[in-house]
Amino acid sequence: MSIGIVGLGYVGLPLAVAFAEAGEDVIGVDVDAAKVAGLRDGISHVEDIPSEWLRSVAERTEFTTRAVDLHQAEAILVCVPTPLNRNREPDLGPLLGAAQTLAGVIARGQLVVLESTTFPGTTRDHLVPLLEESGLVAGQDFALAFSPERVDPGRTDYTIRNTPKIVGGLTEACTARALEVYGRICESLVPVSSPEVGEMAKLLENIFRSVNIALVNELAILADRMGIDIWEVIDAAASKPFGFMRFEPGPGMGGHCLPVDPFYLTWKAREYDMSTEFIELAGKVNKQMPYFCLEKIERSLNDAGKPVRGSRILVVGVAYKGGVGDLRESPALKIIELLLERGGDVAYHDPHVPELPQFGLRHEELGADTDLAVIVTAHPGVDHGTVVDTSRAVLDLRGVTRALGDAKVRQL
Ligand SMILES: NC(=O)c1ccc[n+]([C@@H]2O[C@H](COP(=O)([O-])OP(=O)(O)OC[C@H]3O[C@@H](n4cnc5c(N)ncnc54)[C@H](O)[C@@H]3O)[C@@H](O)[C@H]2O)c1
Repeated sequence: MSIGIVGLGYVGLPLAVAFAEAGEDVIGVDVDAAKVAGLRDGISHVEDIPSEWLRSVAERTEFTTRAVDLHQAEAILVCVPTPLNRNREPDLGPLLGAAQTLAGVIARGQLVVLESTTFPGTTRDHLVPLLEESGLVAGQDFALAFSPERVDPGRTDYTIRNTPKIVGGLTEACTARALEVYGRICESLVPVSSPEVGEMAKLLENIFRSVNIALVNELAILADRMGIDIWEVIDAAASKPFGFMRFEPGPGMGGHCLPVDPFYLTWKAREYDMSTEFIELAGKVNKQMPYFCLEKIERSLNDAGKPVRGSRILVVGVAYKGGVGDLRESPALKIIELLLERGGDVAYHDPHVPELPQFGLRHEELGADTDLAVIVTAHPGVDHGTVVDTSRAVLDLRGVTRALGDAKVRQL
């Protein structure tokens, strides 16, 4: 018996390793031959899974581009990307491609689970018809469920093991099968009555974050105009022991999830004559943040009698969040683009990102003469005290230098 994983990215690879560590044989399938070749050589492309860790489970993992090898698996977990297309509509291409492939390989008695984030109805309305092209009936000849991945890359306190896992099967028996499989790697399981509840619950989680980040970002812009320190405001509000949850302002939203997933629901809602105002508004406010940050950069330089053009500006942290090297939708990229357009002499420091070929830039060590350092992403290992010491002025978009109380630092 073995567990099959389709899509070996930020979600699929940690899942593969978790099952292998739990003593299961794992077959990982990906269409990216280079990724598969790397994994076979024991080289991980996901920061949360160091290569040594991957190699420690090598005996129980097999990586391939051949989906047909999944025929023998007890369960197949699908973790392919769910991006937006150029019109910001759901692009189910990878998901439907994977389903079509699976239709040719699934076997009677298997369990198939979709883990990718998507709109309610995807499992039932899109996956079932494609998988049933196999001649097998979902919920009868094979079990089918949706179970959203909640992994937070870079996080160590909550992992696959201790993060409760939502599971919604097509039938009660499907749910029971999926609960049994996930019970081997997860301490806490949350069964729900249908795949649709699971699909919508994952979107609620992401929309909740997106909306609250947008709220605090908008208040940060207002507080800036009013001359009020938003960080002190948040600290004060967060002293309330109930009814308040802390969210912090920043340069905008990045990553594969928050800027993308909510719009899966926006698209689906149109079918029901609904326009999801909160999602749209949050997206609009968060997308504006790099431009607000640019304005603050211009003001910081202006205070020193300098224009953007020709000033040496060091962007500290370019990944979309601390502790990872993931650049997807990172607001730092937008800020760098805007600064370069204005003639800034831009450099960056990010130990997680060796180079940004699109800008012809490479990671630089701290210490060079800098007119303005802009802390865009706060990585845990970066010494922000040195950033302050070695720059003539600092703009801190993450509030990590507040404790230093240095007069040359301006906060978001
Ligand atoms: N990254 C996160 O933090 C996170 C967290 C929770 C949920 N999710 C969701 O999980 C899903 C996967 O995200 P990810 O970050 O792992 O993406 P990813 O791009 O890192 O990995 C996806 C992998 O799937 C492969 N793939 C694409 N089409 C395929 C196919 N037809 N057959 C086999 N492999 C295929 C790609 O080559 C890639 O290696 C998305 O729906 C995402 O929204 C991501």
